[in-house]
Amino acid sequence: MKFLTPSLLLYLSFLLNDVPKTQAIHLPIQGRIGGFGSGGLARRAGVTGTPDLSNQGNLQYQTNITVNGQQFQVLIDTGSSDLYVVGNVNGAKDTGKTGSVTYAIGSTKGPIKTATVEFEGFKIPNQAFIEQSVDSEHTEGSGIIGLGPSSASEIRGALGNSGGDPVLDRIFKQNSNTSNYITILLGRAGDPTDTFAGDITVGETVSPFDNVTSQPKLPVTEMSNRGGQHWTAMLDKNGIIGPDGNRINTTKHATGNKLTVMFDSGFTFPQVSANIANQIYGRVPGAVLANVSGGSAPMWTLPCSTELNVTFIFQNVSFPIHPLDTVTSALQGPPDSSGNPTCVGAFQPITTNIQGFDIILGMSFLRNAYMLINFGDFVDGSLAKVGDPYIQLLPLTDPAEAHADFVKIRMDGIDKSADLHLLPALPDSGDDGSSRDDGSSQDTLHKYLPYIIAGSVAVGVIILILIIAASYRASTKRKYRRLHDPAPAGLPASNSDPFQNYQPTRRY
Ligand SMILES: *[C@@H]1O[C@H](CO)[C@@H](O)[C@H](O)[C@H]1NC(C)=O
Ligand SMILES: *[C@@H]1O[C@H](CO)[C@@H](O)[C@H](O)[C@H]1NC(C)=O
Ligand SMILES: *[C@@H]1O[C@H](CO)[C@@H](O)[C@H](O)[C@H]1NC(C)=O
Ligand SMILES: *[C@@H]1O[C@H](CO)[C@@H](O)[C@H](O)[C@H]1NC(C)=O
Ligand SMILES: *[C@@H]1O[C@H](CO)[C@@H](O)[C@H](O)[C@H]1NC(C)=O
Ligand SMILES: *[C@@H]1O[C@H](CO)[C@@H](O)[C@H](O)[C@H]1NC(C)=O
Ligand SMILES: *[C@@H]1O[C@H](CO)[C@@H](O)[C@H](O)[C@H]1NC(C)=O
Repeated sequence: MKFLTPSLLLYLSFLLNDVPKTQAIHLPIQGRIGGFGSGGLARRAGVTGTPDLSNQGNLQYQTNITVNGQQFQVLIDTGSSDLYVVGNVNGAKDTGKTGSVTYAIGSTKGPIKTATVEFEGFKIPNQAFIEQSVDSEHTEGSGIIGLGPSSASEIRGALGNSGGDPVLDRIFKQNSNTSNYITILLGRAGDPTDTFAGDITVGETVSPFDNVTSQPKLPVTEMSNRGGQHWTAMLDKNGIIGPDGNRINTTKHATGNKLTVMFDSGFTFPQVSANIANQIYGRVPGAVLANVSGGSAPMWTLPCSTELNVTFIFQNVSFPIHPLDTVTSALQGPPDSSGNPTCVGAFQPITTNIQGFDIILGMSFLRNAYMLINFGDFVDGSLAKVGDPYIQLLPLTDPAEAHADFVKIRMDGIDKSADLHLLPALPDSGDDGSSRDDGSSQDTLHKYLPYIIAGSVAVGVIILILIIAASYRASTKRKYRRLHDPAPAGLPASNSDPFQNYQPTRRY
């Protein structure tokens, strides 16, 4: 998880003293944003059974695991590779080693212990994890489950043997008849037609999207620095269709002009080059690159009713992005010249150098693609040679339905999309690639992400405050408010600054 630590949620729960803490932390947000109640479960509800993920306002997705029988609600994070839980785990065995992971925001440190973990119906004895003690930044019962490759695991490194392997490696090794893959389906809060919260599976697919297994296999780009290995793949050359329907010229002065993308379920807002962000948002009349309250770097802000159709292309398969994801109403930019609230472009201009990949596709992208990650031979110590790891993606967004959703939610039911007249394309501002093309640097992502995420986190805090404030008001009035309505008057008054701990220029 590279995004929002439980401590922020805890902090927010303190802001709302009148709300019982558990309620503040576990707000059932889905279905509230946009004011749509428990309207019939639509397309994605074809998914049978109960969702394995809870979706907190499109900001983070969590699942429940047990450790020695105790339940923990953990963030699912394809961008990291370790498990930590907060609180004492009864009967856990101490390995005598200490582990620490520095996330973008916050960190965890504690004894590495082993216990029986249950996750997605699998029972893993002697699973190594970091037992994080409860403190002001770590809420009891929370945690993070890293779903990345074991080569990037800090616990594995600390123990120095396969006894430190992450949960998934353990599952794949123990169950030789289970295929070495996971799938992730992220729901969209505020979507009037698809209200399924989300699912995560191990070794099986979610019906009716089983045909993800016949999608093109995107080879995982292997990093020379195994500690920096992530779930990455190549975007097609010029593989983004901009709002004018033409492919955006993406350039990279190496690697066949293709950009490498990292898929990170723990990252709320995708990160693209400044040029790509310009081509998506900069041509909209009224769009300005502005300092958004809480953000560490300027973000594109634009009228909330702006419908932008953007599509990503992997191996000739198009992934249309739902316009509710491209221009997010969950976060507010400064009011425009007429005093109207503005929305924010979710594909943020990346503000720092990253190593080994060029784009981070987080939740705003992943809500549009059902993702299968086949670990292949990346499973630590696997006996059988099963092949190279790959990723398969199945498009989930139907442009016509997405358009209808957008008209309903952001255009008050009247299709004004023909009124959008894009300005001329901005001059291309150079290289869209990261400064280096492989992970050869000794520095791993852990060290660099903080810069990027600090901004997202601060932004996330704002969103969360708005959501909680909105829901709180709503619940007292028994009426839900739309997030694109004017913000609740200011942020909750508080005697301390929620952002003071999150300096964008600080390295963690
Ligand atoms: C996880 O457990 C909590 C508390 O029991 C519950 O409220 C939540 O719905 C569960 N989440 C999922 C995805 O089942
Ligand atoms: C997979 O293997 C386990 C034991 O290793 C066995 O209990 C289970 O029935 C097997 N499942 C299938 C589908 O063969
Ligand atoms: C996969 O299955 C879904 C659900 O049945 C269907 O809507 C979609 O068109 C299929 N996609 C492909 C590429 O076969
Ligand atoms: C994109 O690249 C093509 C070929 O290099 C060029 O003809 C075209 O003008 C470029 N478009 C933009 C908007 O820069
Ligand atoms: C954002 O804020 C920084 C410092 O507060 C300032 O230097 C910069 O000019 C601002 N950028 C914009 C686009 O307003
Ligand atoms: C994509 O389509 C083009 C033209 O139809 C074709 O030349 C190319 O080989 C295809 N690429 C992939 C990865 O399938
Ligand atoms: C976006 O795409 C939808 C579906 O193809 C279309 O109806 C709508 O007019 C498009 N909107 C804009 C602003 O291009």
